[in-house]
Amino acid sequence: MKAVVYRSPRDVRVEQVPDPRIEKPTDAIVRITSTNICGSDLHMYEGRTSFEPGRVFGHENLGEVVEVGDAVEKIKVGDMVSAPFNVSCGHCRNCERQLTNYCLTANTPGIAGAAYGFADMGPWQGGQAEYLRVPWADFDALRLPEDARDRQNDYVMLSDIFPTGWHSTEMAGLYPGDTVVIYGAGPVGLMAALSATLKSASRVWIVDRHPDRLRLAEEIGAIPIDDSKVDPVQFVLDQTNGWGADCGCECVGYQAHDPMGQEHNNDTLDKLVRSVKFTGRIGTVGVYVPQDPKAPDEFEKQGKVPFDFGLHWFKGQTQGAGQCPVKRYNRNLRSLIHGNKCTPSWIVSHELPLERAPEAYKAFDARESGWTKVVLKPQMSAS
Ligand SMILES: NC(=O)c1ccc[n+]([C@@H]2O[C@H](COP(=O)([O-])OP(=O)(O)OC[C@H]3O[C@@H](n4cnc5c(N)ncnc54)[C@H](O)[C@@H]3O)[C@@H](O)[C@H]2O)c1
Ligand SMILES: [Zn+2]
Ligand SMILES: [Zn+2]
Repeated sequence: MKAVVYRSPRDVRVEQVPDPRIEKPTDAIVRITSTNICGSDLHMYEGRTSFEPGRVFGHENLGEVVEVGDAVEKIKVGDMVSAPFNVSCGHCRNCERQLTNYCLTANTPGIAGAAYGFADMGPWQGGQAEYLRVPWADFDALRLPEDARDRQNDYVMLSDIFPTGWHSTEMAGLYPGDTVVIYGAGPVGLMAALSATLKSASRVWIVDRHPDRLRLAEEIGAIPIDDSKVDPVQFVLDQTNGWGADCGCECVGYQAHDPMGQEHNNDTLDKLVRSVKFTGRIGTVGVYVPQDPKAPDEFEKQGKVPFDFGLHWFKGQTQGAGQCPVKRYNRNLRSLIHGNKCTPSWIVSHELPLERAPEAYKAFDARESGWTKVVLKPQMSAS
């Protein structure tokens, strides 16, 4: 089959790789019909992780089940399913407690948490390909309703960014009527803004410097803050009698940079501490890594962040962080889509055949104007 293979920093190619097959009776094979490029892929694409050359990318996967193992009972051939980016067993101590983001059996011993096509997240092949092997299929695959084929660009967001945006607002303790400040208007930040809106936040501020992304946020009622023009902390303080937002979401991660492009891995974390009120909560879903050998300075190379813990502590804030437990939310978010309460596909800018993945990676990585979210369609013809 064809798949998007990582070769070296900023070099992905569409190559022939072996078809996945049923390896355990609990597996299913899914023919991928929609698979997104994610900001998480870009950390790997840029060579800022230990992702191994030769591996296949893709953790935001949707498709049709074409084969199931003998032990699969619920999932049937022909079902349209969403595969959460977390690979999880369903029976370990963490999965039992809905912590499928830190499954104890799906990665190598000593590391909790696994994902498709992801650095340090186990051996699982990615889904930017024609087919994907989904292990523990009855537990992991979420069946989609009858409108799944027509509304793929909405449902494909269930595998990662919609639940992840939602999770950031959950960790931020967002309650109806609260105000929230979100750093990053990439796909994840936009889904955090959508989630905050669905949860009836009274005001949603969102910080970025890309007008196309800020415009999408504005379309759903968020208040855009262009940090290349104004100080986002001062902006939020000015609108909250100097106190700050009730809560905040970090949707950028360790490659946070100033509008000129210089990286500061503490930038958004420190700004959140300053623009969230005393006792406010912060939900950090942007990725941070234990080692970052290509970081701009020695301290950051060790995965360390010079975080303003003093002010964070003084303000009595709390913070949640880590991968999103997609299964905790995806069933209900599916119902919000099916019930026409939201249209997460509003951020999709490009639907492209797999063959065009190399140019899509290049443009999305450069945050070129108009490239807000790419959905690859392996069944679409390249011509
Ligand atoms: N925790 C999880 O489960 C999970 C899931 C998916 C993605 N992620 C992570 O979430 C982060 C965002 O993902 P994405 O797909 O939206 O990526 P993205 O890179 O497309 O978007 C990030 C946005 O942040 C903006 N930005 C950069 N520095 C900034 C700063 N200092 N202040 C304000 N904005 C800034 C960029 O301009 C960009 O628009 C990534 O780190 C990704 O790996 C985490
Ligand atoms: Zn993702
Ligand atoms: Zn588990």
